[in-house]
Amino acid sequence: MKVAVLRETAAGERRVALVPAVVRELTAKGLEVVVESGAGTSAGIRDDDFRDAGATLAPDAASASSGAGALVFVQPPRAGDGALDARHFAAGRILLGFLDPLGAPEDARTLANAGVSAFSMELVPRSTRAQRMDALSSQATVAGYRAVLLAAGTLPRFLPMLTTAAGTIRPAKTLVLGAGVAGLMAIATARRLGSRVEAFDVRPAAREQVESLGAVFLETDHELTAEGEGGYAKELSEDQHQKELDLIAAHIADADIVVTTAQIPGRQAPLLITEEMVKSMKPGSVIVDLAASTGGNCALSEAGETVVRHEVTIIGPANLPADLAFHASQMYAKNVSAFLLDMVGETEGELIVDLDNDVVGPSCLAHGGEVRNARVRGLLGLPNEEANHG
Ligand code: NAI
Repeated sequence: MKVAVLRETAAGERRVALVPAVVRELTAKGLEVVVESGAGTSAGIRDDDFRDAGATLAPDAASASSGAGALVFVQPPRAGDGALDARHFAAGRILLGFLDPLGAPEDARTLANAGVSAFSMELVPRSTRAQRMDALSSQATVAGYRAVLLAAGTLPRFLPMLTTAAGTIRPAKTLVLGAGVAGLMAIATARRLGSRVEAFDVRPAAREQVESLGAVFLETDHELTAEGEGGYAKELSEDQHQKELDLIAAHIADADIVVTTAQIPGRQAPLLITEEMVKSMKPGSVIVDLAASTGGNCALSEAGETVVRHEVTIIGPANLPADLAFHASQMYAKNVSAFLLDMVGETEGELIVDLDNDVVGPSCLAHGGEVRNARVRGLLGLPNEEANHG
């Protein structure tokens, strides 16, 4: 079976869904890999690197996807008007990539109508067995790292403590709100650069992880926890939310860098930093809001923009993993290849859609002409009897 990789077309997307090392893994299992010429260029991977690894190069997207049994991508191909590019969705084809099922549920209907078998990286379960396929985590790792580097590059101060002939420099202070995968990586990166770090999360399990990285978990007099299904956070009650805002307000004025990562799957990101809090910060301080594209943790952040408000720089990156395209692609490709290899059945070189598979089944967004994910069906107002529980 032929697996096709196209050049990504989304604005600012520099990643590629497969890299040469995983092409070798896939071809060793009898799969044929076809790569659109130039697909790896923005990630620093040459056509020849793909060729040397055993891929076939195609001159354009149409010839790369023609006859493919599977199409893998970071973001799905879209036409000029932003709609999914149906030319690449031949009936029966397997599609795998980020499909933003909760943010763009209508796309699931398009995919079901096209008769493809679409698998969403966002729906891969956060289970131990699926860790190798967990692209949300691999890309959040990249985002957390880049967020701190962005902030460090903008902050008019050192991060480490320095004792020099020209005086002693006190270490910068970083506050990380949301200590999931991205937040923990942000903490680790800020610590490596010598910053003192404080952090907070509403999941109780986060405290130990924060402390193990040498950061201080913010103390509250009140129980501030909101753990929902599957280990994800859920929304705080109004009263608890206010208590969290009070807690943050008490610490933010001291912070040079604030990295916010707080998200609730399928919902608007919680507001954690008000305009008043921004006003209380020192001139030149930096906020990096990793939730900017889902509504923002900071009231003043703008998705995809850097703004200066009350002398504080507020960065709302649209796609930080794309900035580190080489390693983000390497990690993503490993996730994609692990997923594909899990679909190889008894016959090498073929991918099987087995919805009883405990990773493949829950990740399925559309198959057999149906939207398969229960939550997405709910968002589309479809009845749920025949859907997967996802
Ligand atoms: P996420 O990107 O959905 O959210 C980021 C963080 O924001 C989370 O830690 C969440 O608790 C926190 N948050 C939400 N509302 C908040 C608020 N009001 N104030 C402060 N923090 C708030 O989360 P991510 O990083 O994708 O991780 C989600 C869960 O999945 C975590 O429990 C994580 O440990 C778990 N996980 C499990 C894996 C596995 O077992 N294979 C792999 C990766 C993550």
